[in-house]
Amino acid sequence: MNPAVREKIILQSKLGIVSGKMFDFSKEYILSATDAILKRLGTEYLDVLLLHRPDALVEPQEVAEAFDKLESSGKVRYFGVSNQNPMQIELLKKYVRQPIVANQLQFSIAHANLVSAGINVNMTTDSATVRDGGILDYARIHDITIQPWSPFQHGFFGGVFLDREKFPVLNAKIDEIAEKYNVANTTIAIAWILRHPAKMQPVSGTTNAKRLADIVKASDIYLTREEWYEIYQAAGNVLP
Ligand SMILES: NC(=O)c1ccc[n+]([C@@H]2O[C@H](COP(=O)([O-])OP(=O)(O)OC[C@H]3O[C@@H](n4cnc5c(N)ncnc54)[C@H](OP(=O)(O)O)[C@@H]3O)[C@@H](O)[C@H]2O)c1
Repeated sequence: MNPAVREKIILQSKLGIVSGKMFDFSKEYILSATDAILKRLGTEYLDVLLLHRPDALVEPQEVAEAFDKLESSGKVRYFGVSNQNPMQIELLKKYVRQPIVANQLQFSIAHANLVSAGINVNMTTDSATVRDGGILDYARIHDITIQPWSPFQHGFFGGVFLDREKFPVLNAKIDEIAEKYNVANTTIAIAWILRHPAKMQPVSGTTNAKRLADIVKASDIYLTREEWYEIYQAAGNVLP
């Protein structure tokens, strides 16, 4: 890649899933998978490298050795994780010297578990169940940027919720607010995530230039507190 162009781009990748077989955070795998990523992308370094789904057999000392090697060789500038809870990050931090700068987690209007458990503390409803160890507050305390993946999807790869008949109340509310701000529903879906004070950075998988432009517009919109809660409830969430 042309170095002048490369410097203007922030490249992030992740590793650790050996598709359909296992998760692997061993030193050997981290080093070889990073080399393979660099080769595929035709670049000499990554700005950010994330460890993907937690490996039950992780040896944090090995991760630390791999990160040190990748950092000292200039192959990776910053390190992060994905789908990890606070104690898993603490375990890594016992040995890893580099700050964990990001944690990629599923979060969207239609998959709002990250905020629901906090809203429903000590209730007997399902929404009160803490499934992530309190990662949202942990990330804020430790300055770890949450990168919401699948910001337009529901369920575990359940599909897009925007413009879908399955979500009539939610879409009516999003459309109403989109009309008020004179933007697309896509913009409101992202503005809802950005309105949270954790300063999250959503990761969209779009390859559509128009949709990308609509996503970018969300950074100019600051939803009111009322609008944020109205959208949250329109997705079927109930306030205690
Ligand atoms: N860390 C993890 O465990 C994990 C898991 C899954 C994904 N990810 C990461 O997160 C990224 C984003 O995930 P994602 O692709 O699921 O995110 P997404 O941005 O929610 O979904 C993008 C897909 O939805 C389509 N789409 C969006 N709005 C639409 C609408 N209104 N109508 C019809 N189609 C619409 C897009 O089509 P167009 O291309 O036409 O816009 C694209 O195919 C991935 O690229 C991956 O890097 C991480």
